[in-house]
Amino acid sequence: MASKTQQLNLFEVCCLLFLCLCGGIFMVSATRVLDDADRKNGDVCSPTPYTLQEPAHFVKMLIPADNPLTEEGIELGRQLFYDPLLSMNGAVSCASCHLPQLGFGDGKAFSIGVNGQEGPRSSLPLANVGYYYKGLFWDGRSKSLEDQALIPVREPHEMNSDWSLVELKLRNHPKYPELFRKAFSITDRKEITRFLVAKAIAQFERTLISANAKYDQVLAGKATYTASEERGRKIFFDASDDLPKSECGHCHLDPLFTNLDFQNNGIQQVTSLEDFPDKGRGKITKIIYDNGKFRVPTLRNIELTAPYMHDGRFETLEAVLDHYASGGHLADNLNPNVRQLNFSKQDKIDLIAFLKTLTDTSFVQNPAFANPFNE
Ligand code: HEC
Ligand code: HEC
Repeated sequence: MASKTQQLNLFEVCCLLFLCLCGGIFMVSATRVLDDADRKNGDVCSPTPYTLQEPAHFVKMLIPADNPLTEEGIELGRQLFYDPLLSMNGAVSCASCHLPQLGFGDGKAFSIGVNGQEGPRSSLPLANVGYYYKGLFWDGRSKSLEDQALIPVREPHEMNSDWSLVELKLRNHPKYPELFRKAFSITDRKEITRFLVAKAIAQFERTLISANAKYDQVLAGKATYTASEERGRKIFFDASDDLPKSECGHCHLDPLFTNLDFQNNGIQQVTSLEDFPDKGRGKITKIIYDNGKFRVPTLRNIELTAPYMHDGRFETLEAVLDHYASGGHLADNLNPNVRQLNFSKQDKIDLIAFLKTLTDTSFVQNPAFANPFNE
């Protein structure tokens, strides 16, 4: 009996030794990327502060104190933004629905996610999104870019993935642990979490500033409008008593070309406020008067972001102007600035000429915002 127990004990000790050995190997391999990197780059890792070049005619961007911009953070954010690793099937990245050449929109009435699933709304362009302090999305349901970036990964009609899985993929990736170390001074790959992913993406998004369109160049005295553009500008801003009024500038306020408020601009015909097929802001506030209200979208790069409205119902800017000229569909909460307008053919041509001065080619072609995997 005694010798049997001893044998067992010996066996147990061997098992224990084996397990310790395995654990040791595992721990060494788990930190290897970070250790190697440390050897290469020195022990101290402090990300380089990044100073945002903010346009003089914009209000200052509010940047959260716990996520300051750094060169390494922005670069990591750019990589994550373009990386389909974030999606369930490895085929959809943030950029699938936010393409630079389309002003960071996707050119579709309804965005299409993994497995071709269609979402309920049109993609939003991301130009100047760092300035949207009154809430993100068409209905303002997300408070911050850090908060927003967590959402698409788990939306079934977007990336349809699972954050624990994404965290695992990033921790075991040959490249990302090192990039996270540089951006956030982590010392262990287990510190890579969804919250750091969101922080990095938010940093990248805050750099997406579009403020070098012809409109801005004219303001800076570096360009001049054609006669048609100037006439369109005056109609847009109700700036001349000799020209028709449009009321556009109340909601599409410069320089962002949105006042960031939630309004009903009369695109939907309903018999009562209960009947909006997409309740928009009302779904969030639960205030019936907010039903059918959507955040006023920016008009910057509007030439590139057709089709228009939250449901992509208008293919062209001509169709949008016809809508506004009609005065829109009546509802108890229709904004009074949406009213019947008397536009001539020339007025519409000039308004569209002005709207096209909001196209910022240096923004959409900026190599700093481009897909890093194409470089
Ligand atoms: C399948 C397409 C799709 C994918 C993938 C996608 N988005 Fe979006 N994005 C949309 C749509 C559609 C909206 C508007 C939805 C709404 O308002 O309800 C939107 C809205 C946003 C907004 C709000 C912009 C504003 O003006 O308020 C941000 C920011 C954003 N997306 C960033 C991202 C990031 C970051 C990722 C990747 C983690 C991502 N998106 C992935 C389609 C997509
Ligand atoms: C009462 C505020 C208000 C006024 C006035 C107004 N808009 Fe809008 N505009 C909105 C809102 C809100 C939306 C989004 C509505 C939606 O999708 O449900 C919008 C959407 C648009 C879009 C589509 C943008 C996109 O990305 O899909 C264009 C273009 C546009 N407006 C141009 C104009 C022009 C030109 C005028 C003047 C003739 C004008 N707007 C007047 C509030 C307004």
